[in-house]
Amino acid sequence: MNCLSPSILSADLTRLGEQVIAVDQAGAEYIHIDIMDGSFVPNLSFGVPIVSACRGVTDKILDVHMMVEHPETLIDAVSAAGADLITIHYEATRHLDAAIHKIKDCGAMAGVAINPATPVSVLSEILPELDMVLVMLVNPGFGGQKLIPYTVEKVRQLKAMIDERHLSCDIEVDGGINLENVSRIMDAGANIIVSGSSIFGGDAAENTEEFLHLMQE
Ligand code: DX5
Ligand code: ZN
Repeated sequence: MNCLSPSILSADLTRLGEQVIAVDQAGAEYIHIDIMDGSFVPNLSFGVPIVSACRGVTDKILDVHMMVEHPETLIDAVSAAGADLITIHYEATRHLDAAIHKIKDCGAMAGVAINPATPVSVLSEILPELDMVLVMLVNPGFGGQKLIPYTVEKVRQLKAMIDERHLSCDIEVDGGINLENVSRIMDAGANIIVSGSSIFGGDAAENTEEFLHLMQE
């Protein structure tokens, strides 16, 4: 199934609740929450309280993207705050298998994210354990960047790996996605689309509807 996951990193945080409700009512199935630690990525953003705040205003899937070192230390808290899907970076932990099972033991869906320069082949063994792979189309840490062209080929490679092995893992893409390039990225095999500035940079409800319209074609 194709789903849209508006990234609240670009939302007007003075009215976060209203903005989440707007994209929810416009039909977005997921809400993407970026957690950053200032170490794994050179920026800070949200923490556990924002996950709880979003949980208070929507029943949609809370899609938490953890751009933090040692993500295993935060999984319990993020899950208890109401995350439905917890994605950790391949590059951020030495014990990926243990961290994935910790997410599942909490009752959440588990995802792994890979940075642009990380090949999809590193996921070969862990793939059957995953609900989702997040392919970063920009270097993580900031909204509003331009998509790195070579990352789209990685989506194609990952889709082939999943299909060859008859797995049911979702492919999420994040970074630089707009109304002009979303169809091309979906053609490569992505089915969960994250977008921040292209949704919250204008009327969030209208932009959500436009994305969903293109994604149904
Ligand atoms: C960046 C974040 C993204 C960000 C995307 O590291 O992971 O979720 O909000 O923003 P846009 O869609 O503006 O590139
Ligand atoms: Zn993200």
